[in-house]
Amino acid sequence: MGAPLGQRIVDRLNWLDPIAEKLQPKVKEAVGKGEEKGGTPVRNALDGTYLGTPLHPALSDVPVGSWTAALVFDAVDLVSGSKAARNAADGALAVGVVGGFLAAAVGYSDWRYLSGGSRRMGMAHALVNGGGIALSTISLGLRATGRRNAGRLAFLAGYSLTGVGAHLGGELSYGYGLRVNRNVFEWAGPVEFTPVLRESDLSDSELRRVEIDGEDGKVGILLSRAQGGKVCAISATCNHFSGPLERGDREGDTVICPWHKSRFDLCSGEAIDGPAVFPQSRYHTRVHDGNIEIKAAAENVQKKVR
Ligand code: FES
Repeated sequence: MGAPLGQRIVDRLNWLDPIAEKLQPKVKEAVGKGEEKGGTPVRNALDGTYLGTPLHPALSDVPVGSWTAALVFDAVDLVSGSKAARNAADGALAVGVVGGFLAAAVGYSDWRYLSGGSRRMGMAHALVNGGGIALSTISLGLRATGRRNAGRLAFLAGYSLTGVGAHLGGELSYGYGLRVNRNVFEWAGPVEFTPVLRESDLSDSELRRVEIDGEDGKVGILLSRAQGGKVCAISATCNHFSGPLERGDREGDTVICPWHKSRFDLCSGEAIDGPAVFPQSRYHTRVHDGNIEIKAAAENVQKKVR
C-alpha cells in the first residue's frame, strides 16, 4: 500500500512550488511583520494561542457544517417546494461562505511556516478549497438572480471540491503532523523524583538542556531558575515544530523559541505567544542532596497517545 491518493496527486503538482515561493514571503510580510520580536495580539488570535487550540480547524467546521445543512435544505426544497427550506438553504450557504473566507485567511497564516512537501500540500488544499468557496459564492449570486437550479448545481460542485480540500487538510495534520502537539510523542518523564543535574551547575539566567533516558531514548529537559530562585523544568522541545528551546532567548521567566518565536513560561510551560497553542510538558522539581530532581507532572502522563 503506497501513499494516500491525495498525496500521490499532490506529489505530481510541482508547478505549485514556484507559486508558493512567490506567495509565501507576501503572506509572511502581511501576517508575520515583526515576527522576529515575538507574538502580537493579532498573530496570537490567528494562530489560536488565545483559544488553546489551532484556529483554522475550528473555523473550517463552519463551512463544512453550514454547507452540509444547505445541501439537506436544498434537497427538501426540491422534493417539497418548501419556501422555508429554500430560505434556510440560502442562509446556510451564506453562513458557510463567510466562514470559508475566515477559515481561508487563518489557514494562510498557518501556511506561512511550511516548507517542502507540506507547503505544496498546503497550496493544493488552499486552491481546492478556494474553488469550493468561489463556486458557493457564485451559487449565492445565481440564487439571488432567480437562477436557482444553476445555483444548486454550482453549489453541488463547490461542495464536492470542499470534500477533496478537507481530505488534503487531513493529510496535512495526519501525514505531516501540522499543528499537532509534538510533546505528546515524548516520554512523559519519570514517575519518581530523579536527579538530573547538580544544583550548583545551574546559573541564575541560564537555559540548561539536560537529557534523561526515556522509554524510547533520550528526552531533553529545559532547566532554568526563575527570578524568585525556584528551579523550573519544561520540555526542551518546542511543541510547535520541535525547535530547540535551549537555544532560544530568555526574557524574564519566559523563553522564546529560536525557530518561530513562540514564547513559553519557563515554569508552567504555558504558551504565551504563538504560533504554539499548547503548553509545554512540564515537570515537578525539587533540590535534594544538592541535586536538581524532576518528576513528570500528571498532565504529561494524561496526554500521552500510547
Ligand atoms: S518550533 Fe515553531 S515556534 Fe518553536
